[in-house]
Order: sequence, then C-alpha cells, then structure tokens
Amino acid sequence: MIIEKNRFIEQLINEMTLDEKIGQLNQVGTSIYGGKEDEYEQLIRESCIGSILSVKQIQKCNRLQKIAVEETRLGIPLLFAEDVIHGFRTIFPIPLAESCSWNPSLAEESAAIAAAEAASAGIHWTFAPMIDVSRDGRWGRIAESFGEDNLLNERFGVAKITGFQGTREQNAYMSQDKLIACAKHFIGYSAAEGGRDYNTVDMSSYRLANVYLSPFLEAIKAGVPTVMTAFNALNGIPATLNKKTLIDILRNKLNFNGLLVTDWNALHETITHGYSPNEAYAAKKAMDVQVDVDMSSRVYISNLKTLVLNGELEEDQINQAVKRVLELKCDLGLFEQPYRSNEAHALQVCSKKTHRTIARKIAKESIVLLQNENHILPLQLGKENILLIGPFINDKQSMRDTWSCDGRVDDYVTVAQGFAEAGVPQSMSIDDQIYSAFIKNRCLNTTQIEEIRSTNKIIMVLGEKASESGEAKSKASLELEHDQINFLQQIYQLNPHIVIVLMNGRPLALKNVVSCCEGLVEAWHLGVEAGHAIVDVLTGKYNPSGKLTVSFPRTTGQVPLYYNHFNTGRPFSEEKFNTSKYIDESIEPLFPFGYGLSYTHFDYHDLAVMEQDQDTHLISVQITNSGPMAGTEIVQLYSRQLIGSYVRPVNELKCFKRVFLKPQEKQNVTFVIKNKDLSYFDDNLSEIMDHGVFQIRVGKNSRHGLQTQITI
Ligand code: GLC
Repeated sequence: MIIEKNRFIEQLINEMTLDEKIGQLNQVGTSIYGGKEDEYEQLIRESCIGSILSVKQIQKCNRLQKIAVEETRLGIPLLFAEDVIHGFRTIFPIPLAESCSWNPSLAEESAAIAAAEAASAGIHWTFAPMIDVSRDGRWGRIAESFGEDNLLNERFGVAKITGFQGTREQNAYMSQDKLIACAKHFIGYSAAEGGRDYNTVDMSSYRLANVYLSPFLEAIKAGVPTVMTAFNALNGIPATLNKKTLIDILRNKLNFNGLLVTDWNALHETITHGYSPNEAYAAKKAMDVQVDVDMSSRVYISNLKTLVLNGELEEDQINQAVKRVLELKCDLGLFEQPYRSNEAHALQVCSKKTHRTIARKIAKESIVLLQNENHILPLQLGKENILLIGPFINDKQSMRDTWSCDGRVDDYVTVAQGFAEAGVPQSMSIDDQIYSAFIKNRCLNTTQIEEIRSTNKIIMVLGEKASESGEAKSKASLELEHDQINFLQQIYQLNPHIVIVLMNGRPLALKNVVSCCEGLVEAWHLGVEAGHAIVDVLTGKYNPSGKLTVSFPRTTGQVPLYYNHFNTGRPFSEEKFNTSKYIDESIEPLFPFGYGLSYTHFDYHDLAVMEQDQDTHLISVQITNSGPMAGTEIVQLYSRQLIGSYVRPVNELKCFKRVFLKPQEKQNVTFVIKNKDLSYFDDNLSEIMDHGVFQIRVGKNSRHGLQTQITI
C-alpha cells in the first residue's frame, strides 16, 4: 500500500519536536574524516541523525536501522549513503574511461548493476553522477567526470541517473534494487584555478551557463532528486552558500525542488573560506539558500535550535528541509520496509558473474587506440615473440581506482593475468621484474638486454597508480614520471617495436612518449576486468572503438586545453606573427577530443543536408568499412556558429551515432538537427537562437570530417 505521501509527511512533521526535525538534517560519515558507527548508536537513539555515509555493510546498516526504527520516539528510518561512482563490488571503468565508449546505454547498465549491488548492501543514496565538465587534466577528479564536453556529460549523467534510479510509476516506491541519485558538484568545481582541487573558481555567467550548467539542467529534467553543493568559492562566494547559484539558478531557473546536500564538511569550511564569521552565521545562511542536509560538519545540529529559539530563523524553513528528507525516505518505502536486504541476498547479488561480463564489455569499449604504426597491433599470439614488461603488468594494488567502494584488490584482473588466461604461447614471456631491476640498477644486465633485443614486439604497461588519481590528487605535471620515461627510452634504444598500454585517470602529456613507441593504447583505470579487456583489444578479439572525451596535450603548459574554444581575434596562423600561440610549443593537442583509431578503416562520403522544415535539418553521410576487420565507428557531428550575439565556440559536438560495419559494408547515417540544438544561453541564462550560417562537420573526431552548412 502506497502511503499518501504528502499527508503522511505533514502529520509526521507536526508530531516532531524541533530537535527531531534538526536531527533529520544531520548527516554523519564514517569515511576518512573520522567517526565510527558505534559512536553513532547513541546519537541515533537521541534522534540526532537523519542519514549516514559510508557504512557499506548490510548487517551494520540493519543494526543501526533497527535502533532508529525501534528505539526512537517516532521510529523514523535512516538513509544510508555512499559514493557509488563506478560500481559497488564489481568495479567498472572510471567515468572518464566509460565516457570514451560514447555509449550512454552501457553507462546506464553499469549504474543499474552498481545500484543492485549497493542496495543489497543496505545503501539507499549514491553521491553520483558527478557531472562536472572537466577541461583540466591537472585536476585529479577529471577521472570521475565524463570529460570536457557538456553534451557527453549531459548524456552520461542522465544515463547514470536512470540506471541508478530506474523509472517508476507515479506514486510507486523505488524498487529495492535502486538508489537515489545525486548530481554533483553544484557548481563550477572542476574549473579550479591551476587545476588544483578545492581551489578558487572565477568565471563569467556566460561560461557558467554554457559549459557547466547544462548537465545539471538535463539531470534535473531527468528527475534527479538530490544535488550536492561544491567545495569551491565561485566568483567570491562559497558555492555552498551562494544565493545566485543555489536560489536564483538552481531553485528558480532550473526549477529544482529536490534535496540539496552539502559536500563533506563544506558548511563549516565556509568559515575557512573567510566568508562565514562563525557556525551560527553559516547555519542561518545555509537555511536561507535552502541547503537541506549538512554532511558531516555538524553545523546544523549544533546551531539551528538556538537560531529558532532566538527568533533568527523561522521553524518553517527547517520544516521545508525536513519535508525533502522525509520525501526521499517515503519514495524508498522505508517507513513500510526499513530493512532492504540481508547478508545472503547481498552475497548472491554481489557475486553475479554477469556483472563482470558487462564490466568487461564496457572496459573494452572504453579503450582508445591512439597510435598503430606499421600495424604493430593486433598481436599475432603464437606467431611472434612477445615480451610483456612495465610497472603495472601485474600490480593489482595499483589498479584499485578512485572511489572503488567495496571493490576488493583481489577482484582486479591484471594484464599479465589477462594474457595467462588467454593462454600464453611459448613465444610470449612476461617479465615483471625487469622494470624494478632497471629502477634499482639504473641499467639492464646482458640477459635482459638480449631478452629485449631478441623479441619481435614489446608490450609495456605504463601510467599512473590509481592512488594518483581522484580527489585531492591534482598534479602540476601531466608527463609520465621520469623513471617510466627513462625506462621507455632505454628499451626503445634496444628495440623500437613497442606497444605502450597506459593505465591512468587523466589525460597525459605524451609528447616524449609517442616518439618511443609504434603502438599506443589508452586503457585508463578500467576496474576489475581491465586485464581481460586490454588483452581482448591487443589480440584483436575486440576491435577498439573508443574515442577520447578529453583533449590530450603535448605538454602540461597547454592546459586547460579543450576543443570547443573560442576563435579569439588573433587565432594562430603560420603566416602572421602576433597571433594566439606559444613560442615554445604548438597550441594543438597531441590527440584531439573525439579521436580514436580502429584496426579497420572507415571512409566518409556523400555528406548531404535535407531541410525538413524551417527548424529541422536532416543531415546524412555514408560510411564504408574499407578495412580488413569488422568494427564500430562513432560518427560525430559538430557545428560552428560563424557569427553570434556572443562569441561562439569554433566547434561544438551536437550529436553522435555508433555504427557497426563488417568489411566492405556501407551504411547511411542520418542526424536530425533542430534549430533549438544550436541555441545557447546569454549571461542572464536566457536562451538565444541567433540566425545565420552554421558550419556542420561530420567525421571521426573533432578535427577531421566532411563539411557543409545550414542557415537558420
Ligand atoms: C567528498 C567528495 C564528494 C563525496 C563526499 C562524500 O569529499 O567531494 O564528491 O560525495 O565527499 O564522500
């Protein structure tokens, strides 16, 4: 029986004391900042906690829930929250990797699996998707994003929300294997100066509206019930207390009526920002900008009652926040069934083999082939001598990536394991000592030199440890670490037939890498099925189809580097002197947004535009697989508005389609572009649709393709 929600909540709020109400707005956590579940038992009995972060185990969740339901006056159940970003027990590729599949339906599938696993462990609410458009690889959390393009962040963000929450009938409870999603971080967090996490953000309303806001707009349209505030100050005001963004934009412009939760301790940190003089001010201000839940700072629980009793805060403001918390608990059916699962069920769900099968499929589609000189790939296992070396060929610990939840180190399949399970032929050897020996001795011995020289091909796995990626892991340099570069250069002198496999969580500056290898494969941090997926691609069992969703620089100094930039009044040109350039480096990326190679070749021809009516344009192109292997091509359509009421990007991804073609097979691909797809926001967030000429380019990446134009 579905309780009549609004009446139920209203009656419950009328029965609640002020203390019980404020308790619902207090979220505590057991993650790295301290706090233990046993410490919370008494706080729960005193109705001082509404939700708990990072409990992660069903028996603990049930024990704490039992206290809330049976040992408090009103028995209001707890919400259990967790950062289920890219998997719970089955860890999928990091979001940046998954976005390179350009396959949002797979992202929805991985979110649905993550939800089922997390829900079986007692979790109700995930703090995902992170939809911060990320243009700066120095920022460690680019790993959690869907890259530098807002359209992809929109599509993948909505896919994740749908996967986590499912679609439910009006007035029906969310099903037991789903999670409440949370769009984060509102707003501008990824534009931190210097790419340094938590650093200051300053940007025009025009940029905020047209780059960072659209993924949140789409997430809200998709029904995301919660949003999280960001740590950073935005244009001089902490994002957690920013009336312009939280009230004027989020609540009024985007019509978000859901629950707003702060980031970890962010409310207290408004004092550190030098904005709130004290916690009482922070609490009052947060209530005024409709922040509903205080994550872990305890500012609400320590100050709201006094503010009400002193007449500085209306109790009704608290009631509104409590209503939003209780709505989530109603939607989850917690008042009727507060216990989601048990240990046997959790074990059964988290050990489903099909989850790893899907993880392997997503991992394969996330891999991007960046270079394949002399067709060094795919490998001919058994027909050529192959040597597998490098720091990350068999290091499970280094693979356990950022936000890997309940993922276990032993669950990860290394590249060495992937080859071993594929059946390592006599002609292949795996040497996981040569790198450490080189680092120790700064040279190779004669046996090692002979081993390197005599093999046909070398597979070298380089990159970053997962611990170098994610929150608070910003880097000042995007180059590979010196030891890895030295090792690569030493080996290349002995044998140039090298395929580098990169395992990393950010775009790297690879200028001094691409000249020391023939093959280059971007394999990211792919989660538990990494080794299997990488071997599937290296051996040609899967023809790589991934495309970069972040621009890869030549050197760090080019960053922030992104494809959808403005033209400037002095765009770079070889012929002129005073143009926008570096005197010591190209301004071009090493590998552009949308770039990725295949073992086959796709030809594009016959681009045509058919106007359907005055605001709908049908664009078609013919794709032919002219190569030796079947494969998937991600056909990308970009537009460029030549003249606008504001300066406009030189390139904007407007749509994309995946096409699978056998050798010699042709297919006509059509896109429908509406005038509305070419509109944008002015700095007051009003939509603008300029008239004029729009260049249209359809191709295999953001730099190359067939070109035409349409006129609005
Ligand atoms: C972290 C992150 C946020 C996460 C929260 C809870 O600091 O910024 O994304 O959801 O705290 O772990």
